[in-house]
Amino acid sequence: MTAEIISGTEISKAILAEIKQEVAEMKAKTGKVPGLVTILVGENPASISYVTLKVRTALDLGFNEIQDNQPADISEADLLALIDRYNNDPEIHGILVQLPLPKHVDEKKVLNAINPDKDVDAFHPVNVGRLMIGGDEVRFLPCTPAGIQELIVRSGTETKGAEVVVVGRSNIVGKPIAMMMAQKGVGANSTVTIVHTGTKNLAAHCKRADILIVAAGVPNLVKPEWIKPGSTVIDVGVNRVGKNEQTGKAILKGDVDFDKAKEIAGKITPVPGGVGPMTICMLMRNTLRSAQKSI
Ligand code: GUN
Repeated sequence: MTAEIISGTEISKAILAEIKQEVAEMKAKTGKVPGLVTILVGENPASISYVTLKVRTALDLGFNEIQDNQPADISEADLLALIDRYNNDPEIHGILVQLPLPKHVDEKKVLNAINPDKDVDAFHPVNVGRLMIGGDEVRFLPCTPAGIQELIVRSGTETKGAEVVVVGRSNIVGKPIAMMMAQKGVGANSTVTIVHTGTKNLAAHCKRADILIVAAGVPNLVKPEWIKPGSTVIDVGVNRVGKNEQTGKAILKGDVDFDKAKEIAGKITPVPGGVGPMTICMLMRNTLRSAQKSI
C-alpha cells in the first residue's frame, strides 16, 4: 500500500488563512496589526531568498513588516543597538535576525540581546528553558519543530503513548522536537528516543518508531527496511544533491529514501513540500501570538 502524503504546502496554506483571518479580526477590534522586523546582515544569497519569502508572507497576512537590511561590515555594537531599538518599539512584536551572521559578529551575543518576549525564532536561552519547563511557561515554540508537530496533529497521527524516534540532536530541530513530543498535552505525550551519529544500531531504533522524525542532514540516510509498516515518517532533511540542467534549480532530497519509504509508511512528508513550508508559517503564528499578548 502507498502511504498518505502529508502535504506541508497544503497544511501551511490552511494555517496561513487562519492567521490572516485573526489579523483582520485584530485590526477591526484594536486598529493594530502584528509587527515583525527581519534583520538581514550582508548579501548571502540563501539568506536573501529566505528573508524575501518571510517578508512577502508577512505582508500578505497584513502584518506591519519592516525589512531592515544592514551592510556586511556593520559593527557588533551597532547591531546590538539596533536590536535594542526594536526591543523598545511597541509596534514591533517579533524580531528576527537572519542567520548566519558575518564572522566578526558574535552570533550568540546578538541572539541573546533580543527581548525573549519578541524572540519569534525561540532561539533565546530563556525560550529554550521555557520549552523545557513546558505548559504555561512556553511563550514561543521554535518554528521548525512547531511545524513538525502541526503536521503530525493535522495528519491525524495518534501521539499519545506512541513511540517517537528522533534522528538528530541539533538545537534547532532534534532536541526541541524531542522535548515537545515528550511533554504532556495535545499532539504529544509520546515515548521519545533521540538517536544520532553516536548511536549503535540506528536501524533497530528507527524500526520501532510509530512516528519517525529525521533531521540528520544526510541524504537517503533512512532506508526503507528501517521503517515500521504503517508508521508516520517526517523528513526534515533538505539536501542539495545537484542541479536541474534545464531550470538550473537545485535538486532537493530528504534524509529518507522517499520513493521506497512511501510503500511501507502509513503517512509520509515529501521533500520539498513537507516540513519546509511549515517553518515560515509558524514564524508568522508566533508573531501573531506575540502581538495578541501585548495589545
Ligand atoms: N537561517 C536559516 N534558518 C533560519 C531560521 O529559522 N531563523 C533565522 N533567524 N535564521 C535562519
